[in-house]
Amino acid sequence: MPNTIAFDVYGTLIDVHGIVQHLEQWIGDDASAFSNRWRDKQLEYSFRRGLMRNYADFASCTHDALEYTCASFDNPLSISQKSTLMEQYKALPAYEDVAASLKKLQVSGHRLYAFSNGQAATVDSLLSFANIRTYFIDIISVETLRTFKPNPDVYEYFLKQTCAEAQQTWLVSSNAFDIIGAHHAGLNTAWIQRDTNNIFDPWGAEPTVTANDLMAFSANLAIKS
Ligand code: LAC
Repeated sequence: MPNTIAFDVYGTLIDVHGIVQHLEQWIGDDASAFSNRWRDKQLEYSFRRGLMRNYADFASCTHDALEYTCASFDNPLSISQKSTLMEQYKALPAYEDVAASLKKLQVSGHRLYAFSNGQAATVDSLLSFANIRTYFIDIISVETLRTFKPNPDVYEYFLKQTCAEAQQTWLVSSNAFDIIGAHHAGLNTAWIQRDTNNIFDPWGAEPTVTANDLMAFSANLAIKS
């Protein structure tokens, strides 16, 4: 039976650490730690803005997190290097397994959507750049609600916008906070554990399915459907 599938974008389809090689030229061995801190702060800023009801778009969270990260590493980057990084963030690569898995799911008749904290226009060009935009019926962004995942309103909004029932809908994400948010809203969930060192939060809200990558998820869904 066809399902509606909401794909998280950053970290699930698109590799947010795709800038590490570039960063290495500038800051050497710190590149990986820098990239991780940037991502963690970006998410923290989105959570805090959501709680404070003080919305600024996701690109602003990304920008402010970059400034914080630079300061915490003793300002190793120039203004122009920072603006290069922000530009590169609009053209990050997709993970290798993504295109073939999306194609397989689309051919099986599932309804695929991108569902992101990012603004729709930004996500549209990001997915186009990564050559995967065509697999999605639409991009559902939280920007209309002026809040962020995992606010329960955004999962309700997704179901409403796609005319989907929670029981026939999957949220696919490598971000545990997103999986727990969707679980709380009654959706089926697939946690993509891209790295075996990633630990799922022990909140008693286990994902419906855990898979190492999107190919393993699509094989699992084929058995379930
Ligand atoms: C997104 C962030 C959470 O794409 O990764 O929504």
